[in-house]
Amino acid sequence: MPTERSDDRQSVNRRRFLGASVSTAAIPFVGKSFEEGRAEPLAPAIAEGPISTELTINGAPYRLALDVRTTLLDAIREHIGLTGSKKGCDHGQCGACTVHIDGVRVLSCLTLAVAAKGHEVATIEGLARADGPLHPMQQAFVDHDAFQCGYCTPGQIMSAIGCVKEGHAGDDDTIREFMSGNLCRCAAYPNIVAAVAQAKTQMEG
Ligand code: FES
Ligand code: FES
Repeated sequence: MPTERSDDRQSVNRRRFLGASVSTAAIPFVGKSFEEGRAEPLAPAIAEGPISTELTINGAPYRLALDVRTTLLDAIREHIGLTGSKKGCDHGQCGACTVHIDGVRVLSCLTLAVAAKGHEVATIEGLARADGPLHPMQQAFVDHDAFQCGYCTPGQIMSAIGCVKEGHAGDDDTIREFMSGNLCRCAAYPNIVAAVAQAKTQMEG
């Protein structure tokens, strides 16, 4: 009789639980109906081996062979090699892994990679060209010294862009509320709020 590894079991159970309970600003991405406000679990059965899937990251197509349980964060970092998105908690609690799917901020540690097939995924690496200007949010973080160790910063910036686009950056209290899913152990919060407020005027100007 086949045996199931206990760490696999825990991983699946953990994601199932967190997918239902997480309440941070960025959220797990669960399927094509995301924009319609409905959750539609993608498939189901655990496959025996890797499956072939295609992802579009920062406009570039990638064909990958992945275990169906691979998170989008692990696909981006471990399989594609884009390490800007950070793994802080891997539990949906810190926001360090925030990316955009179809322009909406999501927690890539709680999103299955296969759920992103057919969608546009954007990571911190896609915000600015190497030979071009920084995105206004990146520049604002530099201007306001909105980081210390920098580990949370890619997630903060991706979440902050979503916060502005959602119309949740009207004042400092609102920015704090809608950035509350992104934790910073260096406590750079006052500078982060100032950076988001500056970038808002530039993004909307
Ligand atoms: S690594 Fe995804 S929320 Fe912490
Ligand atoms: S700058 Fe260090 S965790 Fe945020």
